[in-house]
Amino acid sequence: MASLKEKFASKLGPVRDQVRKHIKEHGDVEISKVTVAQAYGGMRGVKCMVTETSALDPFEGIRFRGYNIPQLREKLPKAPGGEEPLPEGIFYLLLTGELPTEEDVQEITNEWRARSALPDFLVDVLKSIPNDTHPMTQFSQGILALQRDSIFSQKYREGISKMEYWDPMFEDVMNLLAKLPAIASYIYRKSYKNNEHIPPDPDLDWGGNFAHMIGVESEEFKELMRLYLVLHSDHEGGNVSAHTTHLVGSALSDAYYSLSAGMNGLAGPLHGLANQEVLRWVMNLMDELGGVPDKEQLTKYCWDTLNSGQVIPGYGHAVLRQTDPRYVAQRDFALKHLGDNEIFQVVSALYDVVPPILEEQGKAKNPWPNVDAHSGVLLLHYGVTEYDFYTVFFGASRAIGVLSSLIWDRALGLAIERPKSVTSEWIAGQLKG
Ligand SMILES: CC(C)(COP(=O)(O)OP(=O)(O)OC[C@H]1O[C@@H](n2cnc3c(N)ncnc32)[C@H](O)[C@@H]1OP(=O)(O)O)[C@@H](O)C(=O)NCCC(=O)NCCS
Repeated sequence: MASLKEKFASKLGPVRDQVRKHIKEHGDVEISKVTVAQAYGGMRGVKCMVTETSALDPFEGIRFRGYNIPQLREKLPKAPGGEEPLPEGIFYLLLTGELPTEEDVQEITNEWRARSALPDFLVDVLKSIPNDTHPMTQFSQGILALQRDSIFSQKYREGISKMEYWDPMFEDVMNLLAKLPAIASYIYRKSYKNNEHIPPDPDLDWGGNFAHMIGVESEEFKELMRLYLVLHSDHEGGNVSAHTTHLVGSALSDAYYSLSAGMNGLAGPLHGLANQEVLRWVMNLMDELGGVPDKEQLTKYCWDTLNSGQVIPGYGHAVLRQTDPRYVAQRDFALKHLGDNEIFQVVSALYDVVPPILEEQGKAKNPWPNVDAHSGVLLLHYGVTEYDFYTVFFGASRAIGVLSSLIWDRALGLAIERPKSVTSEWIAGQLKG
């Protein structure tokens, strides 16, 4: 992987200099204040961490190194004959800040292929987990089991210089990303397909091979996988999976410990698990209402959900205040490929019905759909019927973003995280004054 590593190393110096200057010359400049509501309210909006790979605007949505989703779909290299961007390309972009050429992407495909074989001890661990264990638990356990082979941990023990941390971290990240589709597919086929496994196709790219090893051979599904794996990769640094990976890594835990922890956060229903929740909710709705309901029936169903104290899954966001552009990209794919799919009709109808209801209820700050409102119907359309598995696809994608950031964290020497917590009694004391 000489050229990607060299390219990354060439970017390092100027960013390191800039960070040193920021801290040395402007370290006292205030960039955020914290209110009592923010201290209790999940630190929403507090600017207190640095993530280089992407930035989220509440109204415009995510930009990956400055590029929005339509630009990525246009500018990133595609598979031969394909229209959707290759995940290898987003990895290159997030890591280096530059758009890759076809050759750059091919080099990553080749490198990941060469590193993709699962060691026997990992297969033994996966085999030993009961099949009815949630796929996210299996995924996290599989990633953690690989920690045995961490090059970063080994080099740290040997006494590597701080300035070199990023190098073994880069190697761990490449080894781990290379294996994720195989780990995920192994779990899928073991849990749902009679333990019958499909060997990788040496001619396919990372995302295409993932689709192949899952067992869905249509070219359209391979294209969906590539798009999906790009769209879910990164959403700046404060979301639970990204922040957890960064936090655990800040203790100099290696990529395996860090990503496994991040995946445990992604498995929460308010975060990545929402994609399975959306589809379960939509299917229950169709079961109860006997197919594609009319607007009145949908409205009543949504109110019943809210009145029973539940959230409407797939709607709302901690930062976004508009329809998520990742939803729009998936809708665009569905409009092209899904025809008159009934579940897509319901997902589309919900787009009209839910926002005014959430506005009327007056609680959610953002009534618009997020990424998870659309992914399930696409996966289901191509035959991935096991909802519980959907968050694993999200996890394999999210790994691209959070692991690119982890390499940067070590390259920039970012500190161990240790914010100050306070007690309610302390806050009461402040309020008296
Ligand atoms: C994503 C989410 C967790 C963001 O949480 P948040 O930043 O606290 O959102 P808000 O500030 O808008 O929440 C304010 C209130 O609106 C409620 N709310 C937000 N989204 C809602 C939704 N989709 N349905 C019903 N109520 C919702 C919250 O539960 C909260 O209620 P509370 O005051 O009783 O605790 C939240 O919108 C949600 O639970 N959505 C559904 C799950 C989902 O789609 N998750 C995937 C996120 S990518």
